[in-house]
Amino acid sequence: MHGPTPTPKLVHLNGQIIPAAEAKVSVFDRGFVFGDGIYEGLRSFGGWVRNLDDHIARMQQGLDEAGIGWDARRLHELCPPLLEANEMGDAFLYWQITRGTPKPGHPVRARLAEPDIEPTVFGYCLGLPGVDDLREPTTCNAATVPDTRWHKGHVKSISLMANVMAAQAATESEGEEAILVRDGRVSESCATNIFVVVRGREGQVELCTPPLDDVSILPGVTRKIILELFPDARVRRITEDELHRASEIFLTGTITTIKSAVRLDGRPVGGGTPGPVARRVLERYADYLRANIAAPAGAR
Ligand SMILES: Cc1ncc(COP(=O)(O)O)c(C=O)c1O
Repeated sequence: MHGPTPTPKLVHLNGQIIPAAEAKVSVFDRGFVFGDGIYEGLRSFGGWVRNLDDHIARMQQGLDEAGIGWDARRLHELCPPLLEANEMGDAFLYWQITRGTPKPGHPVRARLAEPDIEPTVFGYCLGLPGVDDLREPTTCNAATVPDTRWHKGHVKSISLMANVMAAQAATESEGEEAILVRDGRVSESCATNIFVVVRGREGQVELCTPPLDDVSILPGVTRKIILELFPDARVRRITEDELHRASEIFLTGTITTIKSAVRLDGRPVGGGTPGPVARRVLERYADYLRANIAAPAGAR
């Protein structure tokens, strides 16, 4: 898969679709100053926004927990015009809701914001390949990195500094992706969930992914779809030792789709290429997308 095109053209800001260069936010916006906001990353295929209701539910939970008053169901009406304005059907869509900018006369560094502050709503989209380009898992070298993030992994906070630092730490071990580990337990990657293929006690092949609440991780929408498509997959703790013995490791996410980690901490994983399970998962995932793109809107 190719990366996104570099610069979004027309963006959404507070109810208007305008050129990115004209979109301006106050330097006192709490998103900028405190990282005080919630985001979502979505994917459209042929104009169908994949599992939009799952993204809305996750975003609403984060907004509610953060006490940011915004109705995530508005994404139903906000996504189509953004895609249409940019003439895109196959795209990544990003939405960010910050708590907003303090009104004149209100302190700009108060941790507690004024109750009637207006959220800042920002969205953009980037063209990506369509479903027919999802043929092969992409690949990466991965490195294990300590998971030092906060304990609210289910909240998609825009404060991603620990993720950025983990990604930097991975490059120091020649990893393009960090696989995060806390107290010997595997959690996820910096922007993806993780699945591993290991041998079970009776020698059977097991596809496993960590639970959401062992180390607190993001309930990935891609992870959820894969678990629905593969009901035999097991949700259970994965130890760092198991990770190093896995015959396959792959990362899943809305943009990433399925990415096989073909090396881990400098050693090949399995045969050093995407394994049969990752290939099957990608195939079935692409079929799922095709079926939904083709289905009438009410049947999805
Ligand atoms: C930390 C983290 N884990 C997992 C994911 C994958 O989630 P999804 O499949 O919903 O994109 C993301 C996506 O941004 C993420 O940031």
